[in-house]
Parts: sequence; C-alpha cells; structure tokens
Amino acid sequence: MAGEQIRLLVVEDVPQVASHVRSLLQAQSQIKMLDVVTAGDRAVASVSEMRPDVVLVDALLQGRVSGQQVAQQIREAEPHVGIIMLTVPQNPVSENAQRGIDAVLKMPFTGFDLTTMVRKVGEERAVESARSGSLVVTLFSPKGGVGRTTLAYNLAVGLGKDHRVCLIDGSLQFSDLRGLLRVPAVAPSIVNLPTDRIRDSDLAEVTWKDPSGIDILLAPPRVEMAEMVTTRDVEKVLSLLRQMYEFVIIDTRAALSEDVLVFLDAADVILQVLTYDSMAIRSLAMSAETFAAIGYPPSKLTTVLNRSDASGGFDKGDVEQALGSRIDFEVVSDGHLVLASNNEGIAFVTSSPDAPIAKNVMRIADSLASHLRERSPALVQR
Ligand SMILES: Nc1ncnc2c1ncn2[C@@H]1O[C@H](COP(=O)(O)OP(=O)(O)OP(=O)(O)O)[C@@H](O)[C@H]1O
Ligand SMILES: [Mg+2]
Repeated sequence: MAGEQIRLLVVEDVPQVASHVRSLLQAQSQIKMLDVVTAGDRAVASVSEMRPDVVLVDALLQGRVSGQQVAQQIREAEPHVGIIMLTVPQNPVSENAQRGIDAVLKMPFTGFDLTTMVRKVGEERAVESARSGSLVVTLFSPKGGVGRTTLAYNLAVGLGKDHRVCLIDGSLQFSDLRGLLRVPAVAPSIVNLPTDRIRDSDLAEVTWKDPSGIDILLAPPRVEMAEMVTTRDVEKVLSLLRQMYEFVIIDTRAALSEDVLVFLDAADVILQVLTYDSMAIRSLAMSAETFAAIGYPPSKLTTVLNRSDASGGFDKGDVEQALGSRIDFEVVSDGHLVLASNNEGIAFVTSSPDAPIAKNVMRIADSLASHLRERSPALVQR
C-alpha cells in the first residue's frame, strides 16, 4: 500500500462534520474520499460496493444503528477494511480491533491528525490482510492430457480438509471441472458475475458448493461463452477470492495464451505439470524460457512429474536437464483409481487416502500449506 492512494469512506450523519473532513482532505492526494454514507444501516452495503481501504465512522450516529454497531458489522462483513471511530472528548471510545475500532479520532482534529491516522490504519490493515492472506496456485502445462484437472481437483479437496479453498475452472472454453464433477449445465459460472463492482455476496452466489467441502468457480457451460470473460473480470475476481479463501487453486487449459497468462501472473505458485513424454518435456522447456523472459522468479515455479512410474525409457536427470529445473514432486500412475474416481466425480484423496497416488498428492498439499503458514505468521496451525 505504501505510496498508493488510500480510499476512504465516511459514515457521518452531520453534514458539517462530513464537509469538514472533505475540506481537510482537499489539499492532499494520498487519501481519496469516496463518499459520505449518512445512514448507519447502509454502511455495510456501501463498503462492499465501494471497497474502501479505511472507513471513518461517527460514534454518535443517530438512527437505528449506532456507530459502534456499524463498526462491528463492517469488521464482520469486510475484515480487511480499516475502521476509525470519530468521537468527541465527552464520549470516550476505546480501541478494540475485534469490535472494529482500529483507531479513535477525537474532535477537534487537524488535517494532519486525520491524514496521519487514515494512512496508519490503512497501511496496518494492508499488512494484516497480506499476512492472513491466501495462496494462489495455478496448474499449468502447455501440453494437454498431463493430469492438470485431476491434480487440481484432488489438491483442492486435499487442502480443503483444513483450509478454506476455492477451485477455479480456468479451462474457460471446455470447462474441464464441469465434466469431471457432472455439474448441471444450469449451474452458474464466472460469466454470471456482474461485470462491475463484484461483491463477496455475488461470488458466494455463483460458486458451486462441492460435496467435498470446497467451493468451485466454474467456467461457462458453452465454448463460445469463454469470450465473455475478460482479463479485467478475472483480475477482479481473483483479488476478491484472495480475501475470502486461504487457497485459490486454478486449473487451466493447455496453452500459454492471454487467458492463461492472467492466471499465471496472479499465481504465487505455478505448479507446472508434465509426464515422461517428449512433447510435454519440450513444450515445458520452451515455456520456461518465456517465464524467464516475462520475469517470473524461479521460486514461483514448482514442477510436478505426473505418472512418474511410467518413464517410457526417460531418465529423470535428463528431464531435469532439459527443463533447466528440478522436479519437485512426483505423482505415480494409478489408471484404475483415477478413472474410477474421475468418473464418479470423487477425489481419490478422500476415497482412497492410503493409495500411493493420494499420498503423493497430499505431499504437495502439505507443502503448499506450510508455504502459506510461512508467509502468514498470523495463521494458526490446525
Ligand atoms: N496419475 C495418473 N494416473 C493415471 N491416470 C491419470 C493420472 N493423471 C491423469 N490421469 C488420466 O489422464 C487423463 C488426463 O488427465 P486430466 O484430464 O486430468 O489432464 P489435463 O492435463 O487436465 O488434460 P486436458 O488437456 O484435457 O485439460 C485422464 O484420463 C486421467 O484419468
Ligand atoms: Mg484439464
């Protein structure tokens, strides 16, 4: 957030105070005042619509909802938003982050007091939300049929045992997960989201609640509808999902095209999947060059060798040399189990947790979970 403009929403029913705040902010550009909400019961809806970084709430709001209730409601609905309570010396209020009061501003205050506090609260919440943040994991392969969809679903379900997980069907044209899970054609998809101002509640309405416990944002039901999904929509969706889930797992189609790049750019971890297949190895080596040219750090890439016991005469060391990177994880073949569980739409990590293939996938899941913990010291290990 440092250096970025902070978006401020003011919940204030006294017009003189609201215009005082506005005039104090006029001479600077670090804080942008979005709007003034005059009724407490409209505050939460306005916050989810306007997506401010910080909200200034008058503790002495008149009407059905008190200032303190507004703060509490905003904290519950939008935990990443910073909240400053505005009060007068005769009505002392204490800071209490759990109840949505990150800081208290007493009247009278100067422009300096206001901007310093808004910036401090905005920056603290940004750090907090990055900490309690999420990990976006994109499965990638320029070659089809290497097992991305199978691995993406099983990884998501495996992580879903202990984490909040959203799986995105980034195979936008053919919607591989719809096929895998036998989701009805009428089930909503990413195209059913509003194109502007997507809110958490919109997302909650369009995600498919899989019986495994994870949420899935499906691709459209028809090939031609993929064109309706723009890069900007996807970016917006991803930034919202990051705030709502600990893991966002993304299945992609076999390509290194614009629609796939948006999922790769957003990824904290790219799981590049290959098999012992000369075409898969070659195309992955080529895309590694592209990633280097784009400037992805090597640490963003993790390589998974699927069907690792079907070497087809290849040597692992030769493959690593061709790729220019190590193979980090191996997943064995289990044609019978994969076919049966994919056909039933049930993850093998759940139905056969002791099978070697399930253990291999859970090793990847465990490593991702510890990666998230390292990045998020605030998270409690469960
Ligand atoms: N480890 C494995 N053992 C046995 N079969 C597997 C394994 N992984 C994937 N398969 C099988 O390989 C086929 C391709 O898998 P999947 O659809 O997951 O790959 P994909 O990379 O998503 O393919 P696409 O290019 O079609 O999107 C499927 O029939 C699946 O059952
Ligand atoms: Mg697939």
